[in-house]
Amino acid sequence: MPPHRSHLPVFIRSGQLAATITRSIKMKFTFFILFGIITTSQALNILGIFPYQGKSHFIVFKVYLQELANRGHNVTVISHFPEKDAPNNYKDISLAKSASPIEDSVPVERSYLTILGMLYYLTDTGIENCEAMLANQEVQRLIKEKTKFDVVVLEQFNSDCALGIAYKLGAPVVGTVAHILMPWHYQRLGIPYNPAYVPFHFLEGGTKPSLYQRVERTLFDIGFRSLYYLRTQRSNEITLAKYFDDIPPLETLAREIKFLLVSHNFMLTGSRLFPANVIEVGGYHVSKAKQLPADLEKFIQSSEHGVIYISFGSVVKSSSMSETQIQAILGAMAKLPQKFIWKWESDTLVADKNKLYVAKWLPQVDILAHRKTLAFMSHAGMGGTTEAIHYGVPMVAMPIMGDQPANAASIEESGLGVQLQVTELTKENLLAAFKKVLDPEFRENVNRLSKAWHERPLSPLDTAVFWTEFAAKHSKFTFRTAAADVPFYQYINLDVYTILTLIAMLPVIAVWILCCRTKKVVDAKNIKKN
Ligand SMILES: *[C@@H]1O[C@H](CO)[C@@H](O)[C@H](O)[C@H]1NC(C)=O
Repeated sequence: MPPHRSHLPVFIRSGQLAATITRSIKMKFTFFILFGIITTSQALNILGIFPYQGKSHFIVFKVYLQELANRGHNVTVISHFPEKDAPNNYKDISLAKSASPIEDSVPVERSYLTILGMLYYLTDTGIENCEAMLANQEVQRLIKEKTKFDVVVLEQFNSDCALGIAYKLGAPVVGTVAHILMPWHYQRLGIPYNPAYVPFHFLEGGTKPSLYQRVERTLFDIGFRSLYYLRTQRSNEITLAKYFDDIPPLETLAREIKFLLVSHNFMLTGSRLFPANVIEVGGYHVSKAKQLPADLEKFIQSSEHGVIYISFGSVVKSSSMSETQIQAILGAMAKLPQKFIWKWESDTLVADKNKLYVAKWLPQVDILAHRKTLAFMSHAGMGGTTEAIHYGVPMVAMPIMGDQPANAASIEESGLGVQLQVTELTKENLLAAFKKVLDPEFRENVNRLSKAWHERPLSPLDTAVFWTEFAAKHSKFTFRTAAADVPFYQYINLDVYTILTLIAMLPVIAVWILCCRTKKVVDAKNIKKN
């Protein structure tokens, strides 16, 4: 018999039942109040530092920062994108007027020249954004008033300037990346960058590069990192030194980052070698699909064979394509029974309205979520790519810049789509690519991948919040791998191999000495005899 039942008659006999119930209600009430206090006392003071003006990056971070505010934390965000209807616990420090948006006319082509152009752009903005941020009055006040923050979350991209601010505020740092790692991120986290199997941000080849591609990515890796350390990081240090005289080298601060949240997931990028403090949170920004605008819904519904969606994202404009490229796409369209939706940024495209729906802005997630959307032709940006996986839409990936070549390789390797290099964009090639991803079997496999993508022990957004709170609560510890602290010559075991080589050479040396000496002695004797 359960013990509480034996007590019941006692209560009834002594007439205390009513009193017990009141007491129990009171206890519950106290519990709720206490619980409330505990939850509020756990509210953290969080500073977000996002000095880069790329909208495609902030679209991702915004979801994370808003979620931190939703959880009751006090969130202050330095960025180019102030919130319009921010809640009370979300405060903006706007840099919006301090930088021009990314060039509108990114050419739809890829060559060594465009990669170098990109590198130049990354270096320049990394320098300028640091100067603009430190010159901002509100940022200066934050530092001067020694505002206490429990954790600083900041973008790891083309500058480490924000690490200087986090250092001044004495707060632990959580880094976040809206794409795959930049070449200078590997070393600070102790992650091996091995060109034999680690895809390089800006180049083709994925995880199975040819010898040519391995030489290519090794050279580019050295070039990118040298410029970053010697120009961007050095300039950032000089800029910081104008305001503060006690900031350690930025590369030293970079190694103090507690966690790095990356837009990866192994279902897309394959298993990568990451230490425990690099956390995969890919896809957390993808929102629930909403109802499409009426005319778009009608257009999609009217398609007997489904629709194909084309967009090259917020930076690359379809309308800046060459005439040949446009004709290749229109030519492939004409050969397929599907209807098309194309994000096109000017009023110049003349097309059959029954076959092709054109708009300057399109609700991408809602289109991808539509069951009649059969394929997505894109530039393979990480944002759109994860949205397509989320909704199980096969991709034709035509990378243009940044991490897109590496993403496109991942898309093909994982079976989520096929890649088509922009230099190989012809009507025939595009048609073949579309036919491949429209195949029902291919689609079925993408569906399976999408299902696996969604199954995680903790949702990616919860994961991002969890480790951010963890870093704030346990800031006394470091979670970096020992690999990040080992000097480079030890990391590649240069000293060990040198000694082993010498030991291996010992017999050779010994033989050489013996033989020559003997010969000399013999020679000397011979000379004496003569
Ligand atoms: C929230 O952050 C701001 C800094 O932006 C700070 O001034 C304020 O005191 C913080 N509020 C709480 C409740 O910690």
